[in-house]
Amino acid sequence: MSAATPEHIMQIGFGFWPSKTLLSAVELGLFSTLAEAPADLPTLQKKLGLHQRSARDFLDALVALKLLERENGVYSNAADTDLFLDRAKPSYIGGLLEMANARLYGFWGSLTEALRTGELQNESKGGGEDMFAALYADPERLRGFLSAMSGGSAGAAQAIAANFPWRGYKTFMDLGSAQGMVPATLARVHSHLTGIGFDLPPVKPVFEKFIAHRGVEDRVRFQGGNFFEDPLPKVDAIVMGHILHDWDLAQKKALLGKVFDALPKGGAVIVYDTIIDDDRRENAFGLMMSLNMLIETEGGFDYTGEDCQAWMHEVGFSKTRVEPLVGANSMVIGLK
Ligand SMILES: C[S@@+](CC[C@H](N)C(=O)[O-])C[C@H]1O[C@@H](n2cnc3c(N)ncnc32)[C@H](O)[C@@H]1O
Repeated sequence: MSAATPEHIMQIGFGFWPSKTLLSAVELGLFSTLAEAPADLPTLQKKLGLHQRSARDFLDALVALKLLERENGVYSNAADTDLFLDRAKPSYIGGLLEMANARLYGFWGSLTEALRTGELQNESKGGGEDMFAALYADPERLRGFLSAMSGGSAGAAQAIAANFPWRGYKTFMDLGSAQGMVPATLARVHSHLTGIGFDLPPVKPVFEKFIAHRGVEDRVRFQGGNFFEDPLPKVDAIVMGHILHDWDLAQKKALLGKVFDALPKGGAVIVYDTIIDDDRRENAFGLMMSLNMLIETEGGFDYTGEDCQAWMHEVGFSKTRVEPLVGANSMVIGLK
């Protein structure tokens, strides 16, 4: 007799239920509200503006999902939601979920169309401006996107600071730095490092505010530019996080080639992304990130460690290796 059950299929098929329940909770500021003070149902209903019909089921669903706790009718945050989803804490990573809620959730509704046509499905659908131009035309969306990037790179930034042998390097650049999570983290952990965040010019004020808030403005500066067109500053090590996956193969190799030229002998490139396992069967998040690139970009795709190392060798790097970071993220290191 077969022991097969449809459980796994159903869990995945209805995966959007828990996902959207969490995303709406973040949108409503539920976890920030509860971080201020635990509260009962009528209080939360009023504070969050919830309809009487929805409030109890919504909150208890979050209890069942282990994102909230409830004791004698009083709701409070679980330990992880309190740390990571309270907007008042520096450990807040909800920006990424806010972006997923406001943008990706809707765009992924057109996944089938993207699979059939190979065409992006975001703001730029139908031949609009490129994603970054569209997002950055509006200061609110610019801030939202850049803060989302910090949510997605905070864990990796800590791991890169801890795992890469920074003792041998004095200067670094984070190419496509967004608001500067990686430069801020590296500078805070390693007091001998000075760094540059390189990104499109509209990013400057958001970057400078973030870096000042982290107290490292004396060692980290912004340089505005287009990494395809402008010369890159000379530094000992260049980090590229969630950059290569935005671009097609020719653009990926062009960027790696430019980075190679900018580095001194002995210099290092650290590429990090949700790198796919070489056999392409384990890192489901990385593989779906590549589908996300289908939805978000004209030619972008995620790649394996083997792919990236081959491109690095092709542009001239002599030694390469892959190291895991956190979750689905790994880094590929290339030495010149
Ligand atoms: C997907 S985000 C990654 C941000 C950050 N490295 C991280 O991992 O969180 C890509 C970044 O590349 C920047 N970018 C896109 N096109 C660029 C270009 N042509 N020149 C410089 N930066 C660019 C964007 O502004 C954005 O900050």
